[in-house]
Amino acid sequence: MKIAIIGYGGMGSYHAQLMKSYAESAPAYPLELAGIYDIDPARVRAAQEAGIYAFADAEQIWADKSVEAVLIATPNDVHAPYVKAAADAGKHIVSEKPIALSERQAEEMYGYAERAGVVFEVHQNRRWDEDFLTVKNIFDHPEHIGDVYRVESRVMGGNGIPGDWRKRAAQGGGMMLDWGVHLIDQMLQMVKSTVVSLYCEYSYIYGEEVEDGCRLSVTFENGVEYLIVIATDCFRSLPRWQVYGTEGTATVRDWDLSGGMTCALVKHDDNIAGIRAGNGFTRTMAPRVGATVKEKPLPAVHAEPFAFYKNFAASCAGKEERRIKKEEVLRVFRLMEAAARSAKENIVVKERI
Ligand SMILES: NC(=O)c1ccc[n+]([C@@H]2O[C@H](COP(=O)([O-])OP(=O)(O)OC[C@H]3O[C@@H](n4cnc5c(N)ncnc54)[C@H](O)[C@@H]3O)[C@@H](O)[C@H]2O)c1
Repeated sequence: MKIAIIGYGGMGSYHAQLMKSYAESAPAYPLELAGIYDIDPARVRAAQEAGIYAFADAEQIWADKSVEAVLIATPNDVHAPYVKAAADAGKHIVSEKPIALSERQAEEMYGYAERAGVVFEVHQNRRWDEDFLTVKNIFDHPEHIGDVYRVESRVMGGNGIPGDWRKRAAQGGGMMLDWGVHLIDQMLQMVKSTVVSLYCEYSYIYGEEVEDGCRLSVTFENGVEYLIVIATDCFRSLPRWQVYGTEGTATVRDWDLSGGMTCALVKHDDNIAGIRAGNGFTRTMAPRVGATVKEKPLPAVHAEPFAFYKNFAASCAGKEERRIKKEEVLRVFRLMEAAARSAKENIVVKERI
């Protein structure tokens, strides 16, 4: 199946490289890059220098019967018009996340694809991140650290908000739409329960018109507490994941799966030797000693290579169901909108989501 990429910036060019590797893996459902389209002549030149065909405009893609699919990797506000035009031209579609700027717009976009009878998929690629899959494994299997009751998911950069459009509200900028959409999607894939309340704070450290970070606390009906932290002002990061279970604690330090689990062999140690700590003495905060705990490696889960492309190409061929469901995508938007309301009004949102 031939696919064209619209928007050959950071992510569009990453897709072009990854699709090449996918094609080289001799997949059962191949994808072949037909070319790209970008409004920026410098990006067009970059593609041509990389040996990639550049379409003169989007109309040329719509008119080309050999191109069966498009991948849209433009700034967030330009996904919807391209999704509509691609659906009208009968092309299958991948849109980068976040597909839309609101739940309402996202729903409309699914409508375009449903009416045209084309596959419409969202690139929620972080469902296949190995750090996430490993934490999900810990969450799903109590033999690791018991029943998980609290999860902390953090991404912490020190580069501020990169680029231009990510700083503008009208273009769908801000860290909630950029990273929140991934981390909330991961959360909902992990915790199979209804959200009953949430509280969110946005940060504006750099004084941009959109949030450069956020802290979102979510409580689920089954009692699980989930914290999402997104920062762009941080030069020393906290671990990517900290997971608390009834029998132990797991830390996943980074995307490279460094970290480990500490499991309690004795739940309450009655013979804690206190320690000197700062200008005082404490038993409460004394570290557990060797015999009462056991260190374990993380139960690493490795992702199937190219799982996203494979599923997209197979679903266009009618051989597999799409892995990223409309209802899941719309629920992520409902949560992002509730978080934005919480941050704006400084309120706890008590809604079943
Ligand atoms: N899934 C992921 O892991 C991931 C990672 C990064 C970015 N993204 C998403 O990819 C999209 C692009 O982000 P980016 O970081 O590549 O941005 P970018 O600014 O690097 O690239 C965007 C490109 O789109 C082009 N463009 C702008 N308006 C256009 C239009 N009307 N028609 C055609 N081309 C146009 C720009 O010239 C630019 O080359 C965003 O939706 C972003 O959220 C996803």
